[in-house]
Amino acid sequence: MSVRAGREFLAIPGPTTLPDEVLRAMHRPAVDIYSGPLLALTDGLLRDVARVFNTKGRAYIYISNGHGAWEAALTNVLSRGDKILVLESGRFAIGWGDNARRMGVEVEVLKGDMRRAVRPAEVEARLKADLRDNKSAGTIKAVLVAQIDTASGVVNDIEAIGKAMRAAGHDALLMVDAVASLGCMSFEMDRWGVDIAMSGSQKGMMSPPGLSFVVANDRAREVHKKADLRTPYWDWTDREGDQHYQKYAGTPPEHLLFGLRQAIDMLFEEGLENVFRRHDLLAEATRRAVGVWAEGQAVGFNVIEPAERSNTVTTVLIGGGHDPVALRAYCDKKCGVIVGQGIGELSGKAIRIAHMGHVNAPMMLGTLGVVEMGLGALGIPHGKGGAQAAIEFLSEQVTA
Ligand SMILES: Cc1ncc(COP(=O)(O)O)c(C=O)c1O
Repeated sequence: MSVRAGREFLAIPGPTTLPDEVLRAMHRPAVDIYSGPLLALTDGLLRDVARVFNTKGRAYIYISNGHGAWEAALTNVLSRGDKILVLESGRFAIGWGDNARRMGVEVEVLKGDMRRAVRPAEVEARLKADLRDNKSAGTIKAVLVAQIDTASGVVNDIEAIGKAMRAAGHDALLMVDAVASLGCMSFEMDRWGVDIAMSGSQKGMMSPPGLSFVVANDRAREVHKKADLRTPYWDWTDREGDQHYQKYAGTPPEHLLFGLRQAIDMLFEEGLENVFRRHDLLAEATRRAVGVWAEGQAVGFNVIEPAERSNTVTTVLIGGGHDPVALRAYCDKKCGVIVGQGIGELSGKAIRIAHMGHVNAPMMLGTLGVVEMGLGALGIPHGKGGAQAAIEFLSEQVTA
């Protein structure tokens, strides 16, 4: 027997649920690419993407996923043989660094692990040592970090990392992956001293996969002039040309742009502060549920320190010989809720519950209720009343 019917709910950490308004905005004919409303659409989107990152810097929109934006960020400011420092807190900064290595960049990893955030003091110490060992001309050209690591569920304090870099007196570029955080929590690019940031359309930006964003400040654009990894498709200088066609290095992804416009309008209409607060509340509701389930000893948080748990995805370890794959299959096949799988070293050991993008209380309470049904049906020991704890938390916070 199953209780699955109607629309299934996608609770994976990207791609996320597309608002019906976004789907409808894309359902229209193509338009001219050399004149007319598309030109103003691009100008508005470039301005508003920069606004979401909180930067006076320049925005670039690519037809690519996050991997493409990684490559765009790297190729525009680095040269063969440059050295970069990658801050480990899960999988994704490491992946970004691996791409750099394959382009001929020397990559050092500041060791972290899957269960904790980057320690800013360790960044400061490493950068000070770089200056000391090399008689004040540091060898590290850039520092790479993910604001939220989607595999571990860790949130990093980018402001503190920026401060640590300045405290070290080091001039490496700070490059931030905001794929799993943009549009879900604040990103203060200029205030935090971030030089380059990148993200994708398919998570907090509530749009289909296929667009990515890179933003760069003046310092990054200055370094760009001497970078020798630049290639025609990603190159910022080419994209800054006067022709609309140059802004996408070819035909614009019109329908994705129509969808993105609608999604950003919805974010602004709700108000970014409200959007961030909504994410905070739904994430905390999820954490309340997981906290109760953890009392049964088989289920637990991947991220050890509560303050380091992200507001977009909660990675939940399933231990004691119990099978997260069976739990996911139950949620999907019996109830129509698709929760995320553990990835990387957490493959086969965890589930990931996303609370990211176009989500609301019924979606999250439904998801938590279904996971709790699955824990019960599969005999996975857990504290009872996790979904109830989430309800109680939300009813205290969301007052009448
Ligand atoms: C934090 C983070 N960075 C980068 C990526 C890579 O993005 P994409 O899969 O769009 O290439 C992802 C994908 O999930 C991610 O979560």
